[in-house]
Amino acid sequence: MSYLEWTPNLSVGSDTIDSQHKKLIEMVNRAFEGVRDPSLNKGGALLAELLDYTRFHFAEEEKVMKAVGFPDTDAHRRLHHDLVRQVTDMQRRYVADPAAVPAADAFKFLSDWLMRHIVAEDMRMQPYVLVG
Ligand SMILES: [Fe+2]
Ligand SMILES: [Fe+2]
Repeated sequence: MSYLEWTPNLSVGSDTIDSQHKKLIEMVNRAFEGVRDPSLNKGGALLAELLDYTRFHFAEEEKVMKAVGFPDTDAHRRLHHDLVRQVTDMQRRYVADPAAVPAADAFKFLSDWLMRHIVAEDMRMQPYVLVG
């Protein structure tokens, strides 16, 4: 299992959003570390921290999308909402019973969730950001 890494091909054209994505990638890596070793007793807190920052990032990203005139901001906001709901659910299951959320599954879910979202969805704002 390799850690996630931000590479320039993930750039959506906004330094603010790119640096938030870098931080999210770091946080997913750290959450994986925490969930992998339940004896550290940090997995729940790291997942909660990741969720907090994710909510902040989504709100910021939606602001940028609106500011540059991205036409699908409302649909994008719904994707964000669904993603937050799924991660909240995972975090709750983990806190109730760490064994219910195996580290490999959690990491796969979080990394697919984040990387696919950046590549398939966030990237669509790039032409609007670069023009604006
Ligand atoms: Fe997004
Ligand atoms: Fe994003």
